[in-house]
Amino acid sequence: MVTEKSAIFIIFGGSGDLAHRKLYPSLFRLYKSGFLKDHFAVIGTARRPWSDDYFRETVITSLKDYFDDSESVMKEFAQHFFYQSHDVNDSEHYIALKNLAAKLDDQFSAGHNRVYYMAIAPRFFGTVAEHINSEGLKTDGYNRLVIEKPFGRDLDSACELNGNISKAFPEDDIYRIDHYLGKKMVQVIPDLRAHNPKFEKALNNKYVSNIQVTLAEKIGVEDRGGYYETAGVLRDMVQNHIMQIIGATAMDEPEATDAKIIHKHKCDLFASLKEMTPEQVDQDFVRGQYDTDNLGEENAYRQEDKVAEDSNIETFTAGKLEFDSDRWSGVPFYVRSGKRMPDKTSRIDIVFNEKVDELGIKPNTVVTLLIERKDGHSILINGIDYKESAQDFIKFPEEKEFDNAREAYESLIIDILSGDRVHFTLWDELRSTWKYIDTIEERWASQTPEFPNYISGTMGPDSAEMLLERDGNSWVWDD
Ligand SMILES: NC(=O)c1ccc[n+]([C@@H]2O[C@H](COP(=O)([O-])OP(=O)(O)OC[C@H]3O[C@@H](n4cnc5c(N)ncnc54)[C@H](OP(=O)(O)O)[C@@H]3O)[C@@H](O)[C@H]2O)c1
Repeated sequence: MVTEKSAIFIIFGGSGDLAHRKLYPSLFRLYKSGFLKDHFAVIGTARRPWSDDYFRETVITSLKDYFDDSESVMKEFAQHFFYQSHDVNDSEHYIALKNLAAKLDDQFSAGHNRVYYMAIAPRFFGTVAEHINSEGLKTDGYNRLVIEKPFGRDLDSACELNGNISKAFPEDDIYRIDHYLGKKMVQVIPDLRAHNPKFEKALNNKYVSNIQVTLAEKIGVEDRGGYYETAGVLRDMVQNHIMQIIGATAMDEPEATDAKIIHKHKCDLFASLKEMTPEQVDQDFVRGQYDTDNLGEENAYRQEDKVAEDSNIETFTAGKLEFDSDRWSGVPFYVRSGKRMPDKTSRIDIVFNEKVDELGIKPNTVVTLLIERKDGHSILINGIDYKESAQDFIKFPEEKEFDNAREAYESLIIDILSGDRVHFTLWDELRSTWKYIDTIEERWASQTPEFPNYISGTMGPDSAEMLLERDGNSWVWDD
């Protein structure tokens, strides 16, 4: 059942790419489905001096890229949009924002609720949060702060950022976005485990040989070279998305789908990540950077716009994680992410061992959870759609709903409006994952890689294959 929500959204960075490509289309979907109807308004704010009318035109133009609804519906939706020119460092501008939000709250009866959305460069997150607090923007309704990624670039900067926003907002009002947590398959993993007792019983070091998480992209960095030069794939994909996918798959079985319980289990899992020595980093993590393709037609990474000619930023990584816990000790978790790979895929491959036979599952069975569905499939057993497989130990509990799955941002915005933090990341989780990633980054910073080392359109450097061969294993997804 759809319950209409009431709130004033203040979108910092309201003229930017994220807002236009992700947030406004998601808000429009929520408008069409009735979650947002009469009692909401959106204030877009950024430095450029736009009028309300011009802002609304930009919103409608971006909606047209995704929807073929009539212009009149889009215009009706856009009447809820207002623009306020604002520089994040100017205290006066926050007073103007506060007054506009109060006026719109009266006009739309928005229940004094505020969603402050940081669709702005990370270096401004702390300043904006502090000003919201110090300039008295908070109301007697709810006041929720939404933070985009990246949340820091190492443990120190993440701590500093967290310290700044925590001075202004209590942890329970902070919604740190990891859009993979908005994806249906990632959200449904705890349900899959609860609905399939045999599968849940097999998820431990007695029956699992190894677990593999692959997030591969076919494209290169495109126009994001400037950002990528400050990040690299380890920070951009592994610290957040891959860790959160592992969290959902490998945490202890939650007694309930309550946010506090799920977060506690994830925190415990990440706290049990086995620390590596610098020498272990050399053994267990590999990095790569794409060269041109076989025909020499595509840019090598070092030829991309805003990328240094001698850049040592990695566009590919593969590694082995281990956990010191009763459940997972001895099981390798292989992770892999890269750009310019042969295809786009996001998947979890769970490789069972021979002993799983005693649970009535065929020895060496591989269960694949497809985060980005391909050809309509969501779960594969030994490469075959689970509905056609002879084995039935895993079933999707709500297949029909998967077909109507919401876009990740749409689903996350509903959670924010409902005050449900289960699909957002906690500071304690980030602290553990940054600590782990820092060990790798520090080792890599002390060495000079031989880049570029893989051809565009391939599976990355050979060392990624050798990483598993050494353990007598191999990647399940192999072009
Ligand atoms: N784009 C994506 O797909 C994506 C995906 C995941 C996360 N993110 C994160 O989302 C955030 C926004 O990314 P984006 O790609 O949308 O960036 P963007 O297109 O560059 O937009 C940045 C926005 O910030 C505004 N801005 C810049 N300086 C300002 C200042 N001093 N005061 C007030 N406003 C200012 C800009 O407008 P003016 O120039 O007019 O001020 C613009 O609206 C970043 O943290 C990014 O890491 C983006």
